[in-house]
Parts: sequence; structure tokens; C-alpha cells
Amino acid sequence: ETIQWDAEDTGKSGYDHFMLKEIHEQPRALRQCLRGRVSELDGDVTVPELGDIELERVHLVAAGTSYHAAVYGAQLLCDAGISAQAHYAHEYAISPPPIENATVVGVSQSGETADTLAATREARRLGAETLALTNTVGSTMARECDKAFYIRSGPEIGVAATKTFAGQQTALNLLAEAATPGAGDRDLVSALRDLPGNVQEILDESTAESVAEAYIDADSYFFIGRGLNFPVSLEGALKMKEISYEHAEGFAAGELKHGPLALVTANTPVFATVTGDGEYARKTIGNVKEVEARDAPVVAVTDGRSNVGRYADHVLDVPQTHPRVAAILANVQLQLVSYYTAAMLGRSIDKPRNLAKSVTVE
Ligand code: G6P
Repeated sequence: ETIQWDAEDTGKSGYDHFMLKEIHEQPRALRQCLRGRVSELDGDVTVPELGDIELERVHLVAAGTSYHAAVYGAQLLCDAGISAQAHYAHEYAISPPPIENATVVGVSQSGETADTLAATREARRLGAETLALTNTVGSTMARECDKAFYIRSGPEIGVAATKTFAGQQTALNLLAEAATPGAGDRDLVSALRDLPGNVQEILDESTAESVAEAYIDADSYFFIGRGLNFPVSLEGALKMKEISYEHAEGFAAGELKHGPLALVTANTPVFATVTGDGEYARKTIGNVKEVEARDAPVVAVTDGRSNVGRYADHVLDVPQTHPRVAAILANVQLQLVSYYTAAMLGRSIDKPRNLAKSVTVE
């Protein structure tokens, strides 16, 4: 690993909080993640650390934000024809599913989370090949697993994971591409190349602060999405809980009518992430209409390919790109909403109560 991060990377550089600084570092962090791994010439993805990895079946194990990246990654691998599932590490460590022919991928920013280490250790004990997908060179997980794939996000000081979630999503795209036999997905590769610039565009133009202000007195915040935007919704809610201490929940949009709809009122804003104009978008718009009929305010996080904006009280824009990359971009808008909500409420953003950056006990 040759990436150099200097002293400036561990100071706040004029930002009020490390979290905001780290949100703004995402273009650079993602550039580092992609550097040298995507060929400028033919768009091929090569990750030397992975060797000639062949994935038949993948179990991704993780906790917290990293679990949401794992849910996202499992979908990418399944799309590539690889049987893949995300598991909570703490469940997996006690009761792993049949593991034959599985590669077990520990997804962990720190590489030190005890729950996740317990899962990768159990996988090793059972004879599975293990891969650490981590930000931390030389971490326990990187040392113990057969292979290590670094996301290269640089140091993250804020307890709430931001740039490392985007880094994990990006690295999981590279993993899925590297593991797919034959020619890669040119559209994806070109979208990944545009990703840092697209994130910058969101950072420059986001209206998340005024959205946060509009709903500062909300009773609860709900986040809905389908497909790749489902883990984005889970992460949007987790970020809100962690740093604002407000109640927030993320749902697969299709689950809304199976229970959570009972909670929806005029004082529960619903953040609907809707990208593309396919079946996922159409059906999520159906859910948006359901909550609107119950007077809930709607914030659409959208690339404008569908007409969800027509049903929304606020729109947070996402540049048009490949659907996989859209899910990375949408999350940036949600990071900003949580950040500004917590800032307006005067919370301890970089060190939220009761939480630790890395939980090293099971
Ligand atoms: C802690 C942190 C979370 C993090 C989780 C997993 O709970 O507060 O922000 O997502 O650990 O951490 P890891 O280092 O394994 O990604």
C-alpha cells in the first residue's frame, strides 16, 4: 500500500466536525479506491490483491454500517451470477449457514470489530477461504484472513462512518467486476470513473441543509427504497439515529404496508430514494403515494428519471448515472441530511453518546 495521508488528514481543516470533513473528502477517497484498479485503456478491473479469485458462493459478514455495505455488495454479486448473502457477523459467528465452497468476506472499516472477527475466525475454523475488505492496513482482520482488499478511504475519525461506506460500496463494485468472467460492464466502469466528480457535484449543490431545517421537529424519520436503494435506506436511518439521537427507521419500501405504515403521520417525513425508471422506481412511487395519503411529508432522493418529484415536498438531486453508482450518490445526500439535523440539534456529532468507532468486545 503506497497511499500517503498526511497530518492534515487527521485535523478538521476548517470544518466544524470531522464528520463533515470526511463527507467532503469522499471524492478524493473514492479516487484513491479506484486508482490503478480500473484500466484507463480498456476499462478492465484488476485488483492484484485478489489474485485470480474465483467466487462461487459468497458470505459477507459485517456489523453496523459495514453490514449495509454488505447487503449492497451481495446484490451486486448476485447480479454477477454469484450466489451471495449478507449476514450479521454476530449471528454468523454463532450459527453459520452451510459453508461449503463459500468465500467469506469480512466487511469492516476498522478490521478490529470483535463481532466480525468472530465470524471470519469461525469461517476459517470451518475451512472456508476468507477475504478482509477493510480500510485498515495491518488490522487484525487483514492479517488473519487469506486475502485483504483495502478500500483506501484514509483515516476516518468521526464515529459515524461516511466516506468509508462509500469506499466499501465502490470496492464491492470492483470485487463483483473482478470476479465476473469475461468482458466487464463498460457502463459501470465509466460510471465509476465519473463517481468522484458526481459526488463533488452533490457536495457543491446539495439542499440537504434546508431539508433538515424543514423537518427539525419531526417525531420520526423514515427511509424507504428498493433494490440497491434498500441498504441505502437502512444506512440513511442508522446515520440519523447515531448522530441526531432522533428515532429513524429504514425499510424495504415494499414492507411499508406490512406494518410500518401504522407509524406514518403528518409529522414523520419519509425519505424515498428512487433512481432509474424501472420497476423498482414505479413501485416505490406507489409507496410514496401511500404515505402521502396519510399526510406524511415526502423527500425524494432521485436522479429525476422517474416522476417521483411530482409527489415530493422536497427533492434532493442525484446526477444520472449507472444504477449501482446512483446508490452510492444517494447516500451522500442522506449523510448531509443527518449531519445538518444533528448540527441544528446541537449533538455531539463526532462522538455520539454510547457509541464507539470500533467495538472490540463481543
Ligand atoms: C461500530 C461503529 C459503527 C460501525 C461498526 C462496524 O458500531 O460505531 O459506525 O459501522 O462499529 O465497524 P467496522 O469497523 O467493522 O466497519
